[in-house]
Amino acid sequence: MIKKKIILDCDPGHDDAVAIMLAIANNEIDLLGITCVGGNATLENTKLNALKICSLINREDIPIYAGADKPIVYDLVTAEHVHGKSGLDTDGDPITLDKNHKIQDLHAVDFIIKTCKDSDVPIYLCPTGPLTNIALSLKKDPSIKDKIKEIIFMGGAALCLGNITPSAEFNIYVDPHAANIVLNSGIAVTMMGLDVTHKVNVNDSIINSIKSNNNKASIFFADLMNFYSRFHRDLYKSNESPLHDPCVIAYLFNHKLFQGKKVHVQVEEKSELTRGETVVDWLGVKKLQPNCNVITEADSETFFKILKNELSKLN
Ligand code: BDR
Ligand code: CA
Repeated sequence: MIKKKIILDCDPGHDDAVAIMLAIANNEIDLLGITCVGGNATLENTKLNALKICSLINREDIPIYAGADKPIVYDLVTAEHVHGKSGLDTDGDPITLDKNHKIQDLHAVDFIIKTCKDSDVPIYLCPTGPLTNIALSLKKDPSIKDKIKEIIFMGGAALCLGNITPSAEFNIYVDPHAANIVLNSGIAVTMMGLDVTHKVNVNDSIINSIKSNNNKASIFFADLMNFYSRFHRDLYKSNESPLHDPCVIAYLFNHKLFQGKKVHVQVEEKSELTRGETVVDWLGVKKLQPNCNVITEADSETFFKILKNELSKLN
């Protein structure tokens, strides 16, 4: 089997942490590196969190790179209200880092460019935070476009409400300019937005079932989700919390779990009211060429069965 070569660009983040573990566990994926961006927390914290996640599951061999600490135009907005001050707060034990486990010297943008250029097969870029690192890579060296098979990002809200403002999803709100660079790049783009991630919900029964794997990764999953669920319970008045970012990874190795439609998408950059809104021409009224595969449906039951099985393979 030929593995898919991927770069996971993230801002861990509780659901990013699950995406990282899923990408490491799945044997159809070759995780070339993790690149971090400021988003859920400052870059200082997101890169530290990425180190902690890999360290906890004894995968210090996976290279981690630090990228942009702020969006292309706007100041950074973080999501402490969801992920806590560190970006990865839990009620579980603190994770201690080996002093030799460090962030790579190369900047994330240069790692993305170098990896694409050096690869003999096209690469999948998998952003689960603001799209700043990806957009900066495309701007710095547009020739890498030919070496990118697909960009599958978590972000946006096509036909549903936003989660940081009534009209915008967090990742796109934080860096709308980066999102437009990605959408207008001509590369195959798939959007895993709130439309679908709000159909992939974690609840106590799922958390306890995965915890019963009883390995470090699954116990960590439960610690993460117990903290993460509090915010969602309060906001949505429901016992279900959307598990956004791992959907990007699951899509890579099991397309059939998801369904969507190719449409034209642009992002509002300026409006105070609707900054970061993903404006989706669902009916094709503007007669523009579709630039994005917008996913809206998921087989959540199978997703969680797979997640449980994949996490059981880790330490
Ligand atoms: C997205 O924002 C972050 O809080 C999550 O990690 C996810 O990537 C959901 O809007
Ligand atoms: Ca994220």
